[in-house]
Amino acid sequence: MSEITYRLGNDLNLDDVVELLKATSLGVRRPIHDRAVIANMIQHGNLTVTAWDGPLLVGIARSLTDFSFVAYMSDLAVRETYQRQGIGRELIQRTRAELGPATKLVLLAAPAAVDYYPQLGFTQHPSAWTLDAHEPLL
Ligand SMILES: CC(C)(COP(=O)(O)OP(=O)(O)OC[C@H]1O[C@@H](n2cnc3c(N)ncnc32)[C@H](O)[C@@H]1OP(=O)(O)O)[C@@H](O)C(=O)NCCC(=O)NCCS
Repeated sequence: MSEITYRLGNDLNLDDVVELLKATSLGVRRPIHDRAVIANMIQHGNLTVTAWDGPLLVGIARSLTDFSFVAYMSDLAVRETYQRQGIGRELIQRTRAELGPATKLVLLAAPAAVDYYPQLGFTQHPSAWTLDAHEPLL
C-alpha cells in the first residue's frame, strides 16, 4: 500500500467526505443524506486533519476547539479498507499537535470504538452529559 499523507484544514470536497463516511461504520451515525448539515460540519469545525492515499481521502478527524482549554473531537473515521494500520492514532496525534499543551481532548465513542480509546490512553469520564436536539430543556 502506498504512503499515507496528512493534511490540515477543512478545504474538503463535500462528496469526498460523504463517501468516506459511507465507507466506515460512522456513516450510519452521521446525517450523510443531509448535504447541508455535512457542509456545515466541514465548514465550521475549526480543526480538521485528514489522511490521504494519493487523491483518495482515507481518514478524517474533525474537532471544535479553543486551542487553549478543550477540544471536542466530533468525528474520527478511517476508511474500512485502511483501518488497523495506525491512521486513526496518527490523526489524533496530529490533532493534539495543533492544540495548546494544556488542551484536553473530549469525545463520545461510537459503539464500535468503545474499546479503541482506552488503548490509546483515554480515560472514561463518569459525568459526561448530553442533551439531544429534540429534548426540551427543563
Ligand atoms: C475507530 C477507528 C477510527 C480506528 O482507526 P484505525 O486507523 O483503524 O486505528 P489504529 O490503526 O490507529 O489503531 C490503533 C490501535 O487500536 C486498535 N483498534 C483499532 N480499531 C479498534 C476498535 N474499533 N476497537 C478496539 N481496538 C481497535 C488497533 O488494533 C491498534 O492497536 P495495535 O497498534 O496494538 O494493533 C476506525 O476503526 C474507524 O473509523 N471506525 C469506524 C468509525 C468509528 O467508529 N469511529 C469512531 C467514532 S467515535
